[in-house]
Amino acid sequence: MGTIDIMKTDTVMLDDANDAVVIIDQTKLPGTVDLLELKTAQQMWDAIYLLQVRGAPAIGVAAAMSIYVLAKGMPRDSFDSFYKEFTEKKQYLDSARPTAVNLSWALKRMDLCVQAHREEPVDEIIEALHREAVAIRNEDVEVCKKIGEYGVSLIKPGDGVLTHCNAGKLATVQFGTATAPIYVAEEKGYHLRVFCDETRPLLQGARLTAFELQESGVDTTLICDNMSAMVMKNGWVNAVFVGCDRVAANGDTANKIGTSVVAAVAKQYGVPVYICAPTSTIDMNTPTGDDIVIEQRKPEEVAEMWYKERMAPKNVKIFNPAFDVTDHSLIAGIVTEYGVATAPYTESLKEIFDKKNKVIN
Ligand code: MRU
Repeated sequence: MGTIDIMKTDTVMLDDANDAVVIIDQTKLPGTVDLLELKTAQQMWDAIYLLQVRGAPAIGVAAAMSIYVLAKGMPRDSFDSFYKEFTEKKQYLDSARPTAVNLSWALKRMDLCVQAHREEPVDEIIEALHREAVAIRNEDVEVCKKIGEYGVSLIKPGDGVLTHCNAGKLATVQFGTATAPIYVAEEKGYHLRVFCDETRPLLQGARLTAFELQESGVDTTLICDNMSAMVMKNGWVNAVFVGCDRVAANGDTANKIGTSVVAAVAKQYGVPVYICAPTSTIDMNTPTGDDIVIEQRKPEEVAEMWYKERMAPKNVKIFNPAFDVTDHSLIAGIVTEYGVATAPYTESLKEIFDKKNKVIN
């Protein structure tokens, strides 16, 4: 499988004939490019928890495809027995990770789809679920393209851009969110210089963003997380583009741990920070960042993973939150598929959803 071109292969795919969800296994990148088949609920849960598939939009698409694949094997004799198992499996998948709202958002969409078709035979409900999962996948591709088009209007040829974690094609089906403006800029011949934070402890920047940008021919420089102040002080960065796992109604944004540090440093050096956010990641039911549940992960990720030997003293206390919240006051704009929202976000995000509802209805 070593010959798979990650830029030409969807990060998440549905293999309907084989009753499987197929993902690029991100835990093996960049050394090995391998596809992984997910057939059981346990395999699907593990893939999300273990970050074999990761990044808010990709998690959402994987969850939608997963619940559809599982639904195909559920009882078809009555709606009640089907829906009982559907609900159990949905709740199980939803428990894999708490912060990225796309997981519960996609599963809720699939649930609403079941409810909308509840008077029909289960076979038809399953067909409707297939259409919904495919729609969620297709929307992800279109949304990222739009974010790329809006985002590129915020940069000029020759600019330096810094990004944290991986909000790239590997975090979505194709293109990415924070990388979409970079890819559009490349097509336009902007010749950007992109700085990738390595993103401790799981190194999504070093392993994934640096990999996919380099594969795409983008001028890429990898830096450790503690170097962003220096590159900004040197005047090498004109804009920061990052993704998000949940944007609250006031614009506070949860993204990979360290994003808020980058944003504070960027403020010090007058560099604008843009959050690239599909509306599927904006949670208007969460009023502020204080209401966002932050995932805590295993201490081994900090002390042992990626090291030949454990590098910290045994039994030392370790704090390992996967995300932090960047205050809305540090954010210059939230780039959505319906345009760029600016402060005050309580109003501009509402306007974005008004626009979305008009297009949909
Ligand atoms: O823990 P991860 O790797 O799933 O975290 C990913 C991020 O924080 C991304 O920036 C975010 O999900 C946006 S992806 C378009």
